[in-house]
Amino acid sequence: MAKATKRENWSGQTGFLLAAIGSAVGLGNIWRFPGVAYENGGGAFLIPYLVALLTAGIPILFLDYALGHRYQGSAPTVFRRLFRGGESLGWFQVAISFVIMCYYGVILAWAASFTYFSINEAWGEDPTAFFTGTYLELAEQPGLSLDVVGHLLLPLLVVWLAVLFVMVLGVQNGLEKANVIFLPLLVILFAILVVRALFLDGAMEGLNALFTPDFSQLTNTDVWLAAYSQIFFSLSIAFGIMITYSSYLRRRSDLTTTGLVAGFANSSFEILAGIGVFATLGFMATASGVGVQDLEGITGPILSFVTFPQIISMMPGGPIFGVLFFGSLVLAGFTSMISIAQVVVAALQEKFELARAAAAALVVGVCGTISILLFATTTGLYTLDTVDKYINEIGIITSAIVMTLVVSWRLRKLPELQAHLNRVSAFQVGAWWRVLLSVVVPVMLLVMVGTTGLSLITDGYEGYPTWYLNLMGWGVVGFAIVFAIVFTLIPGRRGREDHTTFDPESLRDEDDLEEVR
Ligand code: ALA
Repeated sequence: MAKATKRENWSGQTGFLLAAIGSAVGLGNIWRFPGVAYENGGGAFLIPYLVALLTAGIPILFLDYALGHRYQGSAPTVFRRLFRGGESLGWFQVAISFVIMCYYGVILAWAASFTYFSINEAWGEDPTAFFTGTYLELAEQPGLSLDVVGHLLLPLLVVWLAVLFVMVLGVQNGLEKANVIFLPLLVILFAILVVRALFLDGAMEGLNALFTPDFSQLTNTDVWLAAYSQIFFSLSIAFGIMITYSSYLRRRSDLTTTGLVAGFANSSFEILAGIGVFATLGFMATASGVGVQDLEGITGPILSFVTFPQIISMMPGGPIFGVLFFGSLVLAGFTSMISIAQVVVAALQEKFELARAAAAALVVGVCGTISILLFATTTGLYTLDTVDKYINEIGIITSAIVMTLVVSWRLRKLPELQAHLNRVSAFQVGAWWRVLLSVVVPVMLLVMVGTTGLSLITDGYEGYPTWYLNLMGWGVVGFAIVFAIVFTLIPGRRGREDHTTFDPESLRDEDDLEEVR
């Protein structure tokens, strides 16, 4: 039986749309996409990328929306209301968000520092030595170190306090307002940056490097997995974010149209980021008299924190360009960060009946401490790189596989969810949606995660020691599983609805003013 309790909500559809785009557009678009695209076939990567968007990204986005909106809760609540033991799938997604949140905050802190460093090009003559040496004090080898780098603490503290501040204010006053302010600001800053980049000497060389297709890469399953995991991370799907966000939508809300707008806005921003970044790299290559393919450090953190500073130092008006670039990273990352944090905060609030401020303080406190101990030490960069790889390519993909298989085959809920989407939305989903989610998505993802899992087991990653990958890579995936089991077994507050007592139809004709949880 549904219990009448006031559930937080977005002010309306636009508030939700902005928050959904704010969540999607993040470090993944600016920091991850250009490098991933370049490494995986350049222009040819757009093919698996678009296939991933249309066959899995948008369909799972709709699934997340339908689940959150119909079953009204954070991920553990939604899956508990769906089936016995389902709560553990929800907690697995919460664990993934928790892990991502811990390192996401660290990259935000670096970006905030570098926004400041840009003003006087504090990296001097040698940005590599500055980032890995002076700034990160990076050890020679990956390993375990409790040697915390003191000057990373202040930017981290600022980031975590800002996250806490927004989380305490709640869905409408915190999350929504942050997006309403930061998202337009981001679009303006980033548009200026891209236009400036396109007018740099050599910009076209960069675009040619990004968009010249290497079709031979299309037969490589790793490239396809990279495309799917990029889409999942970037669209914020299959790890609880969109389930949680859509649960704050009022009953009469157009889900699919909003999803299409959010999905295409995200990919447009991503491709724009690729254009901006590669135009800038073209400038660097031309100025140094080499080809773009001969440049080093055009992927991952090195791209943003070493190569970009190098370029900023080479160009007229570099400091302004630097502030625009790193400022954009901060804004984009922050609006995503709060959405990831909301997954964890809402789950704890619902399970233990915690006040929002208490849940937020707990999550930010624990995550902040972990971010210092694991990622702000002299081995932090290696750990971050490893955790990011495994939690995305194994964790999120596994979550997507389990979620689609359970919902379609064990619960046979797709027709009900399809009817729900179509009842409230203008854009109607057809049988294609059910076929994609029940067959195409799980089969493709299973093949890909199997191949990548095997290659990680046999070939390792980046030449890091096996014990280290077992601990920080597979170990983190194992942590997410244990976390899921433990949090499912801990008794929560009594009287929570489960699959035997919750009837989503009871919410069907509820007035928007009478929100029901
Ligand atoms: N969707 C977020 C990003 O792209 C997590 O960074």
